[in-house]
Amino acid sequence: MKETIQKDNLPQHVAIIMDGNGRWAKKRGLYRVAGHEKGAESVRECVESCGNLGVKNLTLFAFSTENWKRPKLEVETLMRLLIRSIRKEFTEFHKNGIRLNCVGNIESLPKKVQKELSEVIEKTKDNNNMTLTIALSYGSREEIKCMVQRISQKVVDKEIGVEDINDQLIQEHLYTFDLPDVDLLIRTSGEKRISNFLLWQIAYAELYFCDVLWPDFKTEHLYEAIESYQKRERRFGKTSEQLTK
Ligand code: FPP
Repeated sequence: MKETIQKDNLPQHVAIIMDGNGRWAKKRGLYRVAGHEKGAESVRECVESCGNLGVKNLTLFAFSTENWKRPKLEVETLMRLLIRSIRKEFTEFHKNGIRLNCVGNIESLPKKVQKELSEVIEKTKDNNNMTLTIALSYGSREEIKCMVQRISQKVVDKEIGVEDINDQLIQEHLYTFDLPDVDLLIRTSGEKRISNFLLWQIAYAELYFCDVLWPDFKTEHLYEAIESYQKRERRFGKTSEQLTK
């Protein structure tokens, strides 16, 4: 299967809405958290497969600003699972040149999670094979609101003028300031929604929805998504004829 993927036409940035952990568990008569545990295994496989293919940026939606409304036990277990997974997986990921990055309202996370994240971020900051970004307590509207506030403050302080506000300046004030735009957005579990994820960054992304629940998402499903991406013509508003010139 891997041979069918064109190495010179890989998405530079793959983002994934990892959906369906709860349904995976429910189908088996298990607690929802068992789905998250199994989902963490899919994270490992997906990171390894993206790394092996040569994808430079992978962004995973792990916890949204709205997910704080879930039952306390589920939130606490997810936080524990995150710490455990990051601690466990990053020994190997670090050896493979993977940099950890986080986006979202990181200050709203428990102090223990913040500490764990900042240690791994610092340790892996010079790695350049792949950037793994985890979106935690993330909401795109909140990100956009923060960007507008920061830029407005600069205008008020006369550091910049209104005429200086352009796409690049906006990009530089988002949480994802050091990442390229998303090329391929994958959502698992059959839902066809964006759910407040990377709204600015997916302006020209190819969208790929698959029915597989996240804990069942394997390397073969990632390959299918990338193959689908490679068959598409990305026109960025131009005509087909203009692209071949
Ligand atoms: C969505 O499924 C999934 C989440 C809210 C959590 C994702 C977290 C993990 C996969 C854990 C490990 C993550 C990392 C980065 C190590 P859902 O609970 O909304 O499923 P449902 O729609 O079927 O209820």
